[in-house]
Amino acid sequence: MNSDIEKILLSQDQIATRVKGLGAQISQDYAGKNPLLISVLKGSIIFLSDLLRQITIPCSFDLMTVSSYGKKTKSSSSVKLVMDLKQDVANQHVIIIEDVFDSGRTIYYILEHIKLRNPASVKTCVLLNKLCPHEMNIQLDYIGFDIPNEFVVGYGLDYGELYRNLPYVCVLKPEVYQKQS
Ligand code: PRP
Repeated sequence: MNSDIEKILLSQDQIATRVKGLGAQISQDYAGKNPLLISVLKGSIIFLSDLLRQITIPCSFDLMTVSSYGKKTKSSSSVKLVMDLKQDVANQHVIIIEDVFDSGRTIYYILEHIKLRNPASVKTCVLLNKLCPHEMNIQLDYIGFDIPNEFVVGYGLDYGELYRNLPYVCVLKPEVYQKQS
């Protein structure tokens, strides 16, 4: 797997430090509110599990699945609901946890989905904010890192379902995409 990597953008230590900071900030901002973290599978699962353990106040989480990429390096135009939430979000302080903000279509879809269910509040927490023109103009409340507009994998993010288990965020060699596309 390591021979497929062109460069590491964010090391394991950099990510751990930032996630700890985000956890501390959320713990402070949501003291007394018992926030509900809603995460979007599959890419966000690693971020969510690390972030949860850095939050020092009572909180809960729920999962939903939407799909937008498939085995490609660019997001497609439609977002599909694959698995809905189990928990009722009415009157809850919701924080949407996402791995990457690219076109913005996924977060836009999730926000609309949740707002219809009368939460007490909704905020967004994104590990990676891609510095590219976003199709959806959405206010992100917590950002882990701003990153260049490159296709990245690792720490939950995949290419063709592989590389999610890398502990860092990296860019693959161009030949990896040529080989598999
Ligand atoms: C990816 C990623 C985000 C979304 C971001 O999910 O995990 O959820 O796309 O892109 P956007 O801002 O352009 O909408 P994907 O559909 O690839 O599913 P996955 O999380 O299972 O990999």
